Amino acid sequence: MDEYIIKGGTPLVGDVTIGGAKNAALAILATAIMTDETVVIDNLPAVRDIKAMLDAIDSIGGHVDMLDDHTAKINGSSINDMCVDNEYIKKIRASYYFIGAMLGKYKNATVPLPGGCNIGSRPIDLHIKGFEALGAEVDISHGLISVKADRLVGAHIYLDKVSVGATINVMMAAAMAEGKTVIENAAKEPHVVDVANCLNSMGANIRGAGTDVIRINGVEKLHATNYSIIPDQIEAGTFMLAAAATRGDVTLKNVIPKHLEAITAKLLEIGCEVHEMDDSVRVVASKRLKHTQITTLPYPGFPTDMQPQMTVVLALSEGTSIVTENIFENRFKYVDELTKMGASIKVESNIAIISGVERYTGAHVSSPDLRAGAALVIAGLTAEGITEVDDIYYIERGYENFPEKLTGLGAKIEKVSSDKEITKFKLSVS
Ligand code: UD1
Repeated sequence: MDEYIIKGGTPLVGDVTIGGAKNAALAILATAIMTDETVVIDNLPAVRDIKAMLDAIDSIGGHVDMLDDHTAKINGSSINDMCVDNEYIKKIRASYYFIGAMLGKYKNATVPLPGGCNIGSRPIDLHIKGFEALGAEVDISHGLISVKADRLVGAHIYLDKVSVGATINVMMAAAMAEGKTVIENAAKEPHVVDVANCLNSMGANIRGAGTDVIRINGVEKLHATNYSIIPDQIEAGTFMLAAAATRGDVTLKNVIPKHLEAITAKLLEIGCEVHEMDDSVRVVASKRLKHTQITTLPYPGFPTDMQPQMTVVLALSEGTSIVTENIFENRFKYVDELTKMGASIKVESNIAIISGVERYTGAHVSSPDLRAGAALVIAGLTAEGITEVDDIYYIERGYENFPEKLTGLGAKIEKVSSDKEITKFKLSVS
């Protein structure tokens, strides 16, 4: 029964250090098995999804050595099983990155059909289209996807929809295909660039990552590298919005301000101060914020992974705000939970119409998914009274030491696992 218990009403104040980007790290861990030489990856976030990827590498015969909590030394030369299948890997969406990585290196991979957060239908048809264009045969049966090729040959691939996962997956396979691949309508997210940079540091020849046309000249072999993951823009954005919601003053350290521009722009628009330094950002909110409109879009647009946290801020802001979700159709499930805390939000199809309220009131709520879980925690931090957030399993998939980092900013939040601990927390904050 692990849950977070929060006594709201304290503005967040102070400094917080942002970890490595989970979604970049998941793909980069898969690239680490594309060479027989040793790869060292650092700035890995210590979260459940990363642990699952490392366990999966171990389960197919690779060697994983943790040099410290955030640094893994990986050697894939002893990999002897082309099927990545275990209970946890089934649940994480990024398991699909093993397909691109193993197809590139071994021309053969079997992986469970990906799981992940339940935020809408999450097909992988574009990944499959890309693998087939490179000459692979794809078979789906018994819940597994198997991809095989005698030879992988570069191709011209147009992705019908901008997809982070398909762009990265096809790029990984094409890095070791024969000849030239062009991916058009590619995703431009910072983690696409990070994966390309990591592969290039291993000897790949990838140009154009970060634009919508990526050109890849396949190479026969990749080699050892030491690579450091970029900071997590979504963890950073979550703390920026927690500062805004609680009317706090928080400086985020170890960030790339450019990656946060969509969030910064909206915070400025609704009345926050945002100060950008070289590798830090300070967010100050001293008064009630104003309404605005948000539309989620692929990078550099407003990220869908920040939509629930932004909705929590807007539901406390003056006036009527509109949030349009364009990436995943089922991403407003948390609104029912937020309503229990006093929010006034009407969802019609992929649009939320928000009438700002003065305050939330503490309630017992459940995280429906990773980012919505973080959003409910932000709501709890601002709420009158006590909030209990359960199903925190989702939150722990993507946020390292979330309650500890918030406590460091003055929040009253604790992870508890028994009624006794809940009573103790309530007594300590009363
Ligand atoms: C990744 C992130 C996720 C983020 C999302 C959008 C990881 C592990 N997850 O997910 O946190 O919310 O990007 O920034 O990095 N689509 C298809 N066919 C496909 C693939 C995708 O139709 O084969 C659609 C999806 O349903 C969605 C859109 O394309 O509507 C974008 O999805 P995509 O960018 O692929 O998201 P993921 O890679 O799954």
